[in-house]
Amino acid sequence: MIISVVGHGYVGLVTAAVFADLGNTVWVLGRDPKKIEELRRGKVPFYEPGLEETVKRGLKNGYLKFTLSYSEAISPSEVIFIAVGTPGDKNGEADLSNVFIVAKKIARHITGYKIVATKSTVPPGTNQKIEEIMEKEKEKTASFDIASTPEFLSQGTALDNTLHPDRVVIGTKTQKAREILVRLHEPIDGEMILTNVKTAEMIKYAANAMLATRISFANLIALLSEQVGADALTVLKGVGLDKRIGKTFLSPGVGFGGSCLPKDTKALVKITQKAGVISEFFEAIIKVNEEVRKNFIQKIKKALGSKPQGKTIAILGLSFKPDTDDMREAPSIYIIKALQNLGVKIRAYDPKAMEKAEKILSWVTFLKDPYQTCSGSDILVVLTEWNEFKELDLLRVKELLKKPVVFDGRNIYNPEKLRELGFIYQGVGR
Ligand code: UGA
Repeated sequence: MIISVVGHGYVGLVTAAVFADLGNTVWVLGRDPKKIEELRRGKVPFYEPGLEETVKRGLKNGYLKFTLSYSEAISPSEVIFIAVGTPGDKNGEADLSNVFIVAKKIARHITGYKIVATKSTVPPGTNQKIEEIMEKEKEKTASFDIASTPEFLSQGTALDNTLHPDRVVIGTKTQKAREILVRLHEPIDGEMILTNVKTAEMIKYAANAMLATRISFANLIALLSEQVGADALTVLKGVGLDKRIGKTFLSPGVGFGGSCLPKDTKALVKITQKAGVISEFFEAIIKVNEEVRKNFIQKIKKALGSKPQGKTIAILGLSFKPDTDDMREAPSIYIIKALQNLGVKIRAYDPKAMEKAEKILSWVTFLKDPYQTCSGSDILVVLTEWNEFKELDLLRVKELLKKPVVFDGRNIYNPEKLRELGFIYQGVGR
């Protein structure tokens, strides 16, 4: 099939690379000449395991093409995916302006019949608006069907999630659109949910809300466990082993970050308010996420004593989760800024995110490895659970630190083992 993907962020580029790898001709549409030029040379602007290789393979075999020209991409394509960003605006609502601009542009270039499917996360009803906008803009002879095909990829495992997803959701209005999209997705081995457009839109928000709910639940149990003297990890293991509940997404830590869960839970508060449905549930998820961060900062403040000025903190991990260089809504940003306000010095290391972090946290000293970061620091704080940190030579770390104090924001270390080694250890909920 010949298809187009508008947008080359995580969702757009991964979708395009996977469909090209499956033998489709995929046009990726962008608006920034510099970025498109770099992509044509196989340079991926962010770190995602395996993606650059897949993009290069697509370029080499000619299935993957990058362009700035709508006419070049749209006219041969049977399906056009919209995969542009929907960041939160200042009120917490999803900013749909890019989606609508793109819809207009697509409409002006369609000839014959096309399917315009949205992969961007959009509130229920957005595709209907896309349809209205496109109806006004298109040529009389052109026809199209809208569809909602939300994406469930997770950063760090995006290629695998796209090729082997738990489910493929296809929301359509017509049988024709459904058949074409099913044919396109056939080689992907996830269970298909074929439904209407609004249901597909809702599935995406509901799924992210569920993930955020579980994380905030785990963090709330951690906050409570600290107060009553229970071990949250054992509590949550005891909960998660119930097959009806399951073990995943119940790890307490310094809260959820990234470009999706924080934005989507905020958007859900607005969506529920507008729909006249109880919004406090989603508000509480956000509140717990903030609270767990504050609690962690509070514990570090206490350890720094009454004169924190001039002390040095070593931070390991900056990205919002491992295997990505993405700093969007990373808990590290909030925690480092709060510590900075105390007048401490920050030394930091992350295997992939330092280039991006430098732009946000310019006053931080970035080091080349974990040991250099610890050297001469008063306290060690772990904020992302990169595998590299799990394998550290802890005795060496202890010698390098001024005081053997570890705040483990992702519970990667065994408290008993660290205490045996002579560390003063604090995790989350333990
Ligand atoms: C999330 C969803 O997991 C994807 O299914 C979805 O497609 C994507 O958003 C999206 O809407 O595009 P992602 O943002 O890549 O994917 O990251 P997650 O793996 O969900 O992690 C989000 C945050 O939650 C991270 O900061 C992570 O450290 C934190 N987390 C996760 C916890 O604190 N505890 C856990 O048990 C799990």
